Amino acid sequence: MGQFNFVLITSLLLAFSTNIMKPCEAQLSSTFYDSRCPRATSIIRTSIRQAISRERRMAASLIRLHFHDCFVQGCDASILLDETSSIQSEKTAFPNRNSARGFEVIEAAKLAVERVCPGVVSCADILTLAAREASVAVSGPSWTVRLGRRDSTTASRSLANSDLPGPGSTLAQLISSFANKGLSERDMVALSGSHTLGQAQCFLFRTRIYGNGSDVDAGFASTRRRRCPQTIGTGDSNLAPLDLVTPNSFDNNYFKNLNQRKGLLQSDQILTTGTSATFVAEFSRNPRAFATAFANAMIKMGEIQPLVGTNGIIRRVCNAIN
Ligand code: HEM
Repeated sequence: MGQFNFVLITSLLLAFSTNIMKPCEAQLSSTFYDSRCPRATSIIRTSIRQAISRERRMAASLIRLHFHDCFVQGCDASILLDETSSIQSEKTAFPNRNSARGFEVIEAAKLAVERVCPGVVSCADILTLAAREASVAVSGPSWTVRLGRRDSTTASRSLANSDLPGPGSTLAQLISSFANKGLSERDMVALSGSHTLGQAQCFLFRTRIYGNGSDVDAGFASTRRRRCPQTIGTGDSNLAPLDLVTPNSFDNNYFKNLNQRKGLLQSDQILTTGTSATFVAEFSRNPRAFATAFANAMIKMGEIQPLVGTNGIIRRVCNAIN
């Protein structure tokens, strides 16, 4: 063998071996469970569908649970962990306390999938898939979910309090809290369109319906006042639909309501001001543009700082670490 060939072959071998020695960079993939647990997605789909057919609002609650997970240390199922001596549960943070729902639905889906493939499917992936199934179940868009997220061993009540936007936020605060998670203003408006589903409690929209601002329709405010008394501490948890027309199905009525100054939360109505107004106008005119923007933004939101590869764990149950 000539010297040239020898050098060529050894350098090829070296390149090959260093390549296979190099740990392949772990990333999310739509086929992640295809070999590891081929039935995972269908088991989860069935379980989530059952829960939503028992209670339609559950679709809203599951989409919100995924949002509240992803905005706090990334999509790592940290929101599902119960309080222990070493874990400060996010469940009791202000945005979640007496408000976040659907924990038992995720736990039931986890149990169903554990029976078939123990220790394989993460709670973080179940939450992400649940949000997609919830959208589909109420006639919303579908999208491809990339999988392979792992679960955290920690939670952070303080990050839940600081990183989740509140209903009294200014537009600038909303834009920056989403920008901090890599989401654009258009993503923020599209994702707020989740408020086409679900309910909110009186104490979270009282100021708006009793204020004398010009950004609220008078008839709408007076209707909402009937079940939301002005006195703090009375009827605080009475519910009103976030989309007054069709709270149980995914459509663009939420944006049409905003154009009529009938947004329930201050943080909804504020989207008709400043730079967000163009997106509200677009989505209220064009339901397909909304559905596409929503699906794309859900994919982006679902991929905030995932734990992949050897980071994190696969929890055996979702509310505690192994
Ligand atoms: C833009 C900032 C946002 C603010 C300030 C906000 C605030 C709120 C508030 C105050 C409620 C009512 C909670 C209660 O009454 O207990 C609510 C409900 C809800 N939010 Fe948001 N939200 C925002 C963005 C989002 C996003 C990005 C999503 C999902 C991608 C989302 C999905 C939902 C859903 C589906 C409900 C109804 C939940 C149910 O009926 O159980 N929200 N939101």
